[in-house]
Amino acid sequence: MNTNIIPHSFSVTTSMREKLKGHPGRVIWFTGLSGSGKSTIAHELDLRLNRKGIHTYILDGDNIRSRLNSDLGFSDRDRAENIRRIAETAALFADAGIVVITAFISPFRAGREHARGLLPRGRFIEVFVNCPLETAEARDPKGLYKKARRGEIPDFTGINSPYEEPLNPEIIIDSGNQSVDEAVEAVIAYLNKE
Ligand code: ADX
Repeated sequence: MNTNIIPHSFSVTTSMREKLKGHPGRVIWFTGLSGSGKSTIAHELDLRLNRKGIHTYILDGDNIRSRLNSDLGFSDRDRAENIRRIAETAALFADAGIVVITAFISPFRAGREHARGLLPRGRFIEVFVNCPLETAEARDPKGLYKKARRGEIPDFTGINSPYEEPLNPEIIIDSGNQSVDEAVEAVIAYLNKE
């Protein structure tokens, strides 16, 4: 950091903000292949938590890849930077007292662990939406797997770019067998017992 940048100490603390909101800020970090169902589950969870009076906010491709990260592509380097910026943004939102829900492939363990490390212990909840490649490829909602198989998309996760499965996620969703509702229930049950 530039040594001429001297941080000002905050007068309003994290716990003062949390008291105002009535709940702590957190990051619920969905990870999984394209087509695994991350976004669908994340958006349903967002709605369910909002109805319970929890102040949530979703970070996904719609508001991040098209705006803040519109300069980034899908090389390993760009994906790492994509996730780094998302992790920093999510950590700020969580410090503001918001329950942030992120839905990105986030294929690299190192990036996800970095995101975890930006938050106090217990405030980062990694949700692995586990979906066999064959299932994601059969769903192919955006037709991207077909294109990738034809060699029209370089660095496509699962085809010609790796996906590193989480080793110790807080929650695993079995996306081939669990319904969206069951997946959302599993996350809410985890939050309730915290
Ligand atoms: S990440 O790897 O950097 O976390 P991110 O979740 O932001 O990826 O974006 C993934 C979405 O971008 C996919 O669901 C798909 O719609 C689209 N996409 C475009 N090109 C690729 C690619 N090469 N690999 C994976 N997804 C891609």
